[in-house]
Amino acid sequence: MRTARCTSYGPPGGIEIAETDDLTPGPGEVLVEVHAAAVNYPDVLVAADRYQISAPLPFTPGSEFAGVVAARGAGVSGPPEGTAVAGAVFTGAFAEQVVAPVAALRPIPDGLDMVHAAAFHVTYQTAYHALVTVGGATAGEWAAVLGAAGGVGSAAVDVATRLGVRVVAAASSKERLDVALGLGAERGIDYTKEELKVRVRELTGGGGAHLVIDPVGGDHAEAAFRALCRGGRFVTVGYADGRIPRIPLNLVLLKNATVRGFEARMMREEAPEAVAAAQRALAAMVRDGMRPLVSRVHPLSEVASALTAVAERRTTGKVVLDMTRT
Ligand SMILES: NC(=O)c1ccc[n+]([C@@H]2O[C@H](COP(=O)([O-])OP(=O)(O)OC[C@H]3O[C@@H](n4cnc5c(N)ncnc54)[C@H](OP(=O)(O)O)[C@@H]3O)[C@@H](O)[C@H]2O)c1
Repeated sequence: MRTARCTSYGPPGGIEIAETDDLTPGPGEVLVEVHAAAVNYPDVLVAADRYQISAPLPFTPGSEFAGVVAARGAGVSGPPEGTAVAGAVFTGAFAEQVVAPVAALRPIPDGLDMVHAAAFHVTYQTAYHALVTVGGATAGEWAAVLGAAGGVGSAAVDVATRLGVRVVAAASSKERLDVALGLGAERGIDYTKEELKVRVRELTGGGGAHLVIDPVGGDHAEAAFRALCRGGRFVTVGYADGRIPRIPLNLVLLKNATVRGFEARMMREEAPEAVAAAQRALAAMVRDGMRPLVSRVHPLSEVASALTAVAERRTTGKVVLDMTRT
């Protein structure tokens, strides 16, 4: 089978394509013939060995995939071969085959094709939990979403809008703001040109945002925190900027604010009811026509340039590798 291969840590431009033996599922595992795999920002970090966990070399990058069950390991009673599934692993998805624990697989919501199914889970689950499970968003509130044209950001704008939450989108150019406005954001702020704190307050009628969703970090985090209303909630989701922000605790005190983190990896073990509730809510939104914003689809042979574009902040929404294309 064809697979992407990281043989050294570094920028994604160094990822190669290799031919390897077909995979065999072990006990409790399922072999999936991958049809599509989505690029997530952490894939860039894992390739550079800058993620929280290291992947031992050599490895196949890629975490999020959609495909068809091709074989089951010992002790696995379902899903049957031929079933369309989506799933997430730490590494291994940027290949024609992936082996995953059966617990890492889930059915594809009705209405999603393989490309959109691959692009759906990580960002939409993250967005939903950041907004609802952790952020406590309710209809009529204002949410400021940073990096609003990116994977998590665009999903957060999409889900928030569908929940009746009013969105102020923040991004680094007019073109990127247009993407967020197209997904339902009411207002946009170019945080490379405008002062985030001042503009969020102005655009929300003076009171400030009830909620901030921050997948970016860096200097924007404190500016966004200062734009919260009294009693507001700040949800830290990621640090695409590369710098982890340090917000003075006296600001938290003075605003009676809440700072919460969201981390997807442990959700299934720690909060299975919340995961099930999110899946039900998101499946209903898909039935109503919600689709992840897929801006680029590449064949596997272009994996290096696809990840480089994400690393260099040149993409909007999701980038997907289509294994059925050559
Ligand atoms: N906590 C969790 O469970 C969880 C789950 C998924 C992802 N994440 C994290 O969330 C973050 C965003 O992920 P994503 O999939 O949304 O990534 P993405 O699609 O690449 O979007 C990130 C956005 O951040 C902004 N940005 C600002 N400075 C940047 C820089 N120096 N390099 C790249 N982007 C920069 C960009 O928007 P502008 O150019 O408009 O500023 C970009 O659209 C990552 O740190 C990821 O690890 C966390």
